[in-house]
Amino acid sequence: MAKVNNNILVYPDPRLRKKAELVDEVNDDIRETLDQMLDIMYKAPGIGLAGPQVNVHKRVVVIDVSEEKDTPLYLINPQILSSSGSEVTEEGCLSVPGISEKVKRAAEVKVRTLNYYGKEIEFDADGLLAVCIQHELDHLDGHLFIDRLSSLKRGRAKKKLEKQTN
Ligand code: NI
Repeated sequence: MAKVNNNILVYPDPRLRKKAELVDEVNDDIRETLDQMLDIMYKAPGIGLAGPQVNVHKRVVVIDVSEEKDTPLYLINPQILSSSGSEVTEEGCLSVPGISEKVKRAAEVKVRTLNYYGKEIEFDADGLLAVCIQHELDHLDGHLFIDRLSSLKRGRAKKKLEKQTN
């Protein structure tokens, strides 16, 4: 079973850059991993967490964008089937503490994923959920939101991060 790291990995940890592997069976081990990830995310607190951020290099994501933090969404092997529109939103990341910057992403996405029970589902998302899904799916491929900034802003963010860790 993939061991969940209780501490969220922080930039520039190279493990954040590893491409996550497909989950081949949705079983109790994976569900336990998702449960642990959700706990860590709520405690952080955050609205999304991807496997690589807790050193689980599998394509698993937990999200909850609800006010009450009572609507968890579990994504296993998620894919974006199509996207449309564009929106600029201020983003942050538990793995990139202290930095928030505006990022341009699709406004609406159609998602195909396995759910908590291993059933394939499809749904449409917009608003904050659409942003969060795109941000978390980036993590599965080893990408961070700061990669999507202009080189000027990225340089500024990296300098700030270096100062924080030194
Ligand atoms: Ni993130």
